[in-house]
Parts: sequence; structure tokens; C-alpha cells
Amino acid sequence: MFVRSFTLRDFRSWDDVTIELGPGSMVFVGPNGHGKTNLLESLGYLSTLSSHRVSSDAPLIRAGADRAFAAASVVNQGRELTIDVEIVDGRANKARMNRSPVRRPREILGVLHSVLFAPEDLSLVRGDPGERRRYLDELLTTRRPRMAGVRADYDKVLRQRSALLKTAGGALRRGTASSDGASALATLDVWDGHLAAHGAQLLSSRIGLVHELTPFVAESYSSIAPESRPAAIRYRSSLADALPPEFADPLRTPEPDDVEVLEAAFLHQLSIMRQREIERGVCLVGPHRDDLELALGDQPAKGFASHGESWSFALSLRLASFGLLRAEGTDPVLMLDDVFAELDRKRRSALARVAVDAEQVLITAAVAEDVPPELDARRWGVSALQGDTGRVSRIDSIDESEGVGS
Ligand SMILES: Nc1ncnc2c1ncn2[C@@H]1O[C@H](COP(=O)(O)OP(=O)(O)O)[C@@H](O)[C@H]1O
Ligand SMILES: [Mg+2]
Repeated sequence: MFVRSFTLRDFRSWDDVTIELGPGSMVFVGPNGHGKTNLLESLGYLSTLSSHRVSSDAPLIRAGADRAFAAASVVNQGRELTIDVEIVDGRANKARMNRSPVRRPREILGVLHSVLFAPEDLSLVRGDPGERRRYLDELLTTRRPRMAGVRADYDKVLRQRSALLKTAGGALRRGTASSDGASALATLDVWDGHLAAHGAQLLSSRIGLVHELTPFVAESYSSIAPESRPAAIRYRSSLADALPPEFADPLRTPEPDDVEVLEAAFLHQLSIMRQREIERGVCLVGPHRDDLELALGDQPAKGFASHGESWSFALSLRLASFGLLRAEGTDPVLMLDDVFAELDRKRRSALARVAVDAEQVLITAAVAEDVPPELDARRWGVSALQGDTGRVSRIDSIDESEGVGS
């Protein structure tokens, strides 16, 4: 698929711009801090409803404005769909599909498939488990948009159950027989059931995804770093102790009835952990505590991988996403944010090999010389002027005059 055009209003440093693109390689060049990443971030947002740089939406709204707007027209196998989102500070965002409002923004998920590789991705290897869970869940919802609902339901139950654990714990500490403590405990059983039901669905989808990704990661890594040890990924569940032993086999093929097995294991583990959870006032088991283990040979990548190996691993995870989405029949839009300058010659050419053959690749770079020549097809200049409320970015097509809105 490819983005045919996109429009931003009051998004980061962009006040009002429409950019016409086409399939193939598009390069955005300009000095640092002038708004290049903001462009890719906006498309990433339309694709995943979150930013790869910030966890809240407020920074996306241009300073001085009260809302941001982003829209993209996406062509997938000849069929065009337009999606847009209005990001409003402190209120629910609104989304539309072909200009008709949808009930929830998450209904636009799955329209724009994208894979973004950015310097921040080093934290996929070095950062907290949350970074890797996010990597899995974003890919999961791109492929199966229904999972966004499961994820939202799980998070809601998790918040309610955590609040209940705190109430029950507080009552317990004040002296046992208080009535709110007893009723919190009774309600807890109900919430355990909800948590296990939604959690098992999320868990089985993640386990299935990791199973499918595994060969893509191994292959990407060995093509980027053939001299290094083999790379492997493995889902690490906080329910591991309660799962049947075959789940410990990293090569096990997921089964259709995994959801029921996982739900039963989840409930069992909750009953074992109940006392400790009440004492600590937090949910200690479930997909929100899990991790995706990254290994090089028989060592964990985190803490052992060199700088170069960490880069290779992060890149392999993104290329694996690309490969998996492509294998389903349509190329995701590949976005490479300022990464060529960071990579050595070998990694650069491995990335270029994949990118050159993608249906559309959007590249940012401070200087055009950082972009491999085979990818430097159509170039745009991004620059910014200081306005009253911060920088205002603008864009000019460098080799053609057509295609630029403002
Ligand atoms: N909410 C915002 N409102 C106005 N300007 C912003 C906002 N967020 C970021 N910016 C501006 O965007 C610039 C960074 O843009 P970015 O796309 O990251 O640059 P680069 O070209 O280096 O990729 C910053 O200098 C900042 O001035
Ligand atoms: Mg940047």
C-alpha cells in the first residue's frame, strides 16, 4: 500500500500542509529540528493511534492551538481510503473514515499499515519490557484490528481490579472485618474472571504472533549481521508457572484451544497470587507484566549485546514486522527516520535492499548524502521559520514543482 497524500493542521510544527506522494522512495531532507520526524510521526499516529516518541497526545498539538488534525489517503491494491483524526487536548479524539465519523478512533486501525524504524528503537533492545509489549501489540492490532478492543477491555478491567486490590489491602491493614474490605474481596472474584477472559485472548494472540515472527527475525538478523550469533525471540509470560509444560517449548505451534488453556492457567495463577496482590495492591500476573525476550546465541540481548548488535536487533525486529505484513499480501508503508547516518555500511546496505523493493518508503535525513543513492528517488526539502508560537515548518519539492500544497 502507499500514502497518496496527507494533510496536517496544527500538528507539532506544521500549521497547515498537504503533501502529495506516490509509490516508491520519498526522501525528506532538512536541518535537525525543522519538522521531518513530525511528518512521519503523524503517519505513524494515523496507523497506530499513538506516537513513537511520546505517550500522551498533548505534545502533538501545535503550541497555541487547541486541536491537531491529521488525514491520509491510503491506496491499497487500487482501492483508496481516507482516514483522519482530530486530536483534542483533554477530550476524546475524533476519527473519520472517508469523511464519515466512526464511533471510536480505533475503528480506523488496520487501514494504514506502517513500519517505522527510528533511533528510538534502540530501546526495543535496551529498554523496559513495556517497549517490547508495545512493539507486539502495535503489530497485533495492525494485523487484527479487533485486538485493539480486546486490549482496551483488558486495560479497563486491569485498572478497576487494581483499584479494588488497593481498597481490599487498605481495609485489611486497618483491621480485618470492615465491610468495604469484605465486599472488595467478593467483587474481586468477578474481576478475576474478566481479567482472565480478556487477558487470555491477548496472550494467545501475542504467543501466536511471536511464533509467526520468529523465522522473520532470525532471517533478518542473519542477513544484517551474518558474522554474529543467531538471534531469537521468545515470549515470556508471567503465567509461565501455571502453564502446561509444552508451552515452555519456543517452537511449539499455537493451537486453537490455547485461549481456554490460558484462561484456566490465568485464573489458577490469580488464586495463588491473591494474598500477595492484596498486600501489594497491584496486579502481579497477566499480559501487562510479560516480556518479549531477545536472545543472541544463548545470551539475552539486553545487557550483553554490543552497540552494533543492539542496532542490528532493533532493525531486525522492524524488518520482521515488514516481512510478516508483506507475507499477508500487501506491503506496509516503510518509514525510516534518520537512521542511515547511524548505521554502518553493512547494515545500511541490508536496509537499503529491503527498502528499495518496498511499495513505498518514506525517509528522513539531515543531509541527502546519508541516503543510499538507490533510494534517493524523489526529494523534498523541509525547513522551518521561527513564528510567535514556535517553529513553523514548510516543505518544498526539490526536483519537481508539482505535488506540494503549501
Ligand atoms: N507541539 C508543538 N508545537 C510547536 N512546535 C513543535 C511541537 N512539537 C515539536 N515542535 C517543534 O518541532 C521541532 C522538532 O521537529 P522534528 O520533526 O523532530 O525535527 P527533525 O527535522 O529533526 O526530525 C522542534 O524544534 C519543535 O520546535
Ligand atoms: Mg528527526
